[in-house]
Amino acid sequence: MPPTTDATIRLAGVADLEAIRAIYNYYVERSTCTYQLEPDTEQDRLAWFQQRTAAHPVTVAEWGQEVLGWASLSPWKPRGGYARSVEASVYIRHDCHRLGLGRALALDLIERAKAAGHHTILGGACTTQTASLALQESLGFVRVAHLREVGYKFGRWLDVVYTQLILTPEG
Ligand SMILES: CC(C)(COP(=O)(O)OP(=O)(O)OC[C@H]1O[C@@H](n2cnc3c(N)ncnc32)[C@H](O)[C@@H]1OP(=O)(O)O)[C@@H](O)C(=O)NCCC(=O)NCCS
Repeated sequence: MPPTTDATIRLAGVADLEAIRAIYNYYVERSTCTYQLEPDTEQDRLAWFQQRTAAHPVTVAEWGQEVLGWASLSPWKPRGGYARSVEASVYIRHDCHRLGLGRALALDLIERAKAAGHHTILGGACTTQTASLALQESLGFVRVAHLREVGYKFGRWLDVVYTQLILTPEG
């Protein structure tokens, strides 16, 4: 198992997309931490990556040249007035949980969001995703919304809890 203090957090490149895809597809097929129903193809991930900008980065946690987790900031909504609001995603390889990698990626994302001039970060999770919600709340995200039965996966309706961190209260 990797010692977490040795993991490097860096911007992702095209060469990381297969690892990112594998980490994510594991959850698509088994978990309600994403409501995506079909695994990403190589083309899906490449198209997703090509839409990224400096304000909406993808990062990876790397240890010993292996990508063990990834994170991203995505636009909250496309209209211009939402430009400084972003949604965070963090996915750690299933066999590398509780090593501090999720926290390290999330803390790095918060710093990148501040540097990019974003005003607020939103997090979302299924109510059953206790790890995700605990991580968000441990970083100061506050629960702001609970949407009932907006997702449907594995034969049942699922709620979404949104959490929010305000980065620049002054403006
Ligand atoms: C949620 C996730 C990113 C956490 O990453 P991780 O590397 O395992 O978490 P860390 O070791 O950095 O833990 C940081 C904090 O998160 C919380 N946490 C993490 N896993 C937890 C769990 N299973 N139960 C309760 N709290 C948990 C704790 O507050 C923990 O701090 P502590 O270790 O001091 O108690 C990881 O479980 C994951 O990838 N899950 C699947 C994908 C997902 O749900 N992503 C979030 C949606 S975008």
